[in-house]
Amino acid sequence: MTSPGTEHAGAAALVVKEITKDFVGLRALDSVSLRLDREEILGLIGPNGSGKTTLVNVMTGFLKPTMGQVRVDDVDITRWPPHKIARFGLARTFQTIKLFKELTVLENVEVSACKHGVTTWASQGASLPRAGQPWSGTIGWHPGRGAALR
Ligand SMILES: Nc1ncnc2c1ncn2[C@@H]1O[C@H](COP(=O)(O)OP(=O)(O)O)[C@@H](O)[C@H]1O
Ligand SMILES: [Mg+2]
Repeated sequence: MTSPGTEHAGAAALVVKEITKDFVGLRALDSVSLRLDREEILGLIGPNGSGKTTLVNVMTGFLKPTMGQVRVDDVDITRWPPHKIARFGLARTFQTIKLFKELTVLENVEVSACKHGVTTWASQGASLPRAGQPWSGTIGWHPGRGAALR
């Protein structure tokens, strides 16, 4: 994957600057740059093998780049571990999700949401469905109040 550098004035929420990632015998990313402003939505498209997942892995600390830099709110996070990057606010999903089978569906949601202040559901749930069990309810999300079962 290659891209033209995108230079703008001012600090962006996310800046990927000239990221190169080499695997043995293969350059998966070749000086990739992008910039994402707050509340902006940016799509990353390309054929299989073009480097999308590799870029997301580099941005979120699962892979270290060969060269280049990732900045969040103007802080260089390039070599931070994934958990530190997630706590700093850069989150990602995975193509194949892995649930905590011993937790309820709602508790699984809570685990990913707890950084954002949702911490009380486990103590409130009476007979919540287990992960992997059929469940006809829905979970609503209320900004500022967290999740609600219906
Ligand atoms: N861990 C790895 N080791 C070696 N090569 C890899 C590794 N991960 C990805 N690649 C290679 O890097 C290229 C980009 O892969 P990937 O980022 O998965 O593409 P995409 O997500 O766009 O389908 C592919 O040629 C792939 O085979
Ligand atoms: Mg992929």
